Amino acid sequence: MIIAVDGPAASGKGTIARALARHYGLPHLDTGLLYRAVATRVLRDGMDPTREADCVAACDFSDTLLDDPWLRTDEAGQTASIVSAHPLVRSALLRRQRKFAQQPGGAVLDGRDIGTVIAPDADAKLFVKATPAIRARRRHTELAKAGSSVTYDRVLADIRARDERDSSRSTAPLVMAADAAPLDTSTLSIEVAVERAIALVEAQRGK
Ligand code: CDP
Ligand code: CDP
Repeated sequence: MIIAVDGPAASGKGTIARALARHYGLPHLDTGLLYRAVATRVLRDGMDPTREADCVAACDFSDTLLDDPWLRTDEAGQTASIVSAHPLVRSALLRRQRKFAQQPGGAVLDGRDIGTVIAPDADAKLFVKATPAIRARRRHTELAKAGSSVTYDRVLADIRARDERDSSRSTAPLVMAADAAPLDTSTLSIEVAVERAIALVEAQRGK
């Protein structure tokens, strides 16, 4: 069974994808981390994230980079959203994601284009969303806990900028797949959001 979970920054897709993976006993891939790894290599090697050729060279990063805590920073997320707009970066990372999705037994993947591009034939597709203000509040709380002094207004501006960039790019933009089930987590606790997600997956796989 392949489960695709897409949505904008801090919508709760990662939390929901991890919970679904646990519930169904499936492996999980956070595909955003791959773009964050490319972004990190580009910055560390003194390259330019707006130059497609520089970003393609950074796509053969080593797997150990995926464990680097810096990948979780806001700066890595912003740069990830710049490098991810290059079509050649997306195609360089496509095979790895498809292979993960198609492993025997199935998998849960979360990102922006899982239901539309990576696994269009997924057995279940969720599109997780929440208002920008609530997503910014969640991300700000996380960053503050991690010791960051970034302001809420800055986080909100960054989320809006990333939404705009991710939704307007020409290759694999952030859009809900026609056959995905929307899940608005704005007013839901994590527990209730996960319960709803499981119910939506059950409804789709029964079809
Ligand atoms: O966790 P959060 O939603 O903040 O970010 P993420 O999922 O780690 O993604 C970081 C950036 O990578 C996004 O803003 C997208 O530009 C890009 N991304 C993408 O283009 N396609 C994916 N499947 C996953 C992430
Ligand atoms: O993966 P994505 O960036 O979409 O979001 P996440 O990392 O799953 O969630 C972002 C933050 O929102 C985390 O700190 C979650 O604990 C929190 N969250 C929440 O407060 N309520 C929800 N229904 C879902 C997530």
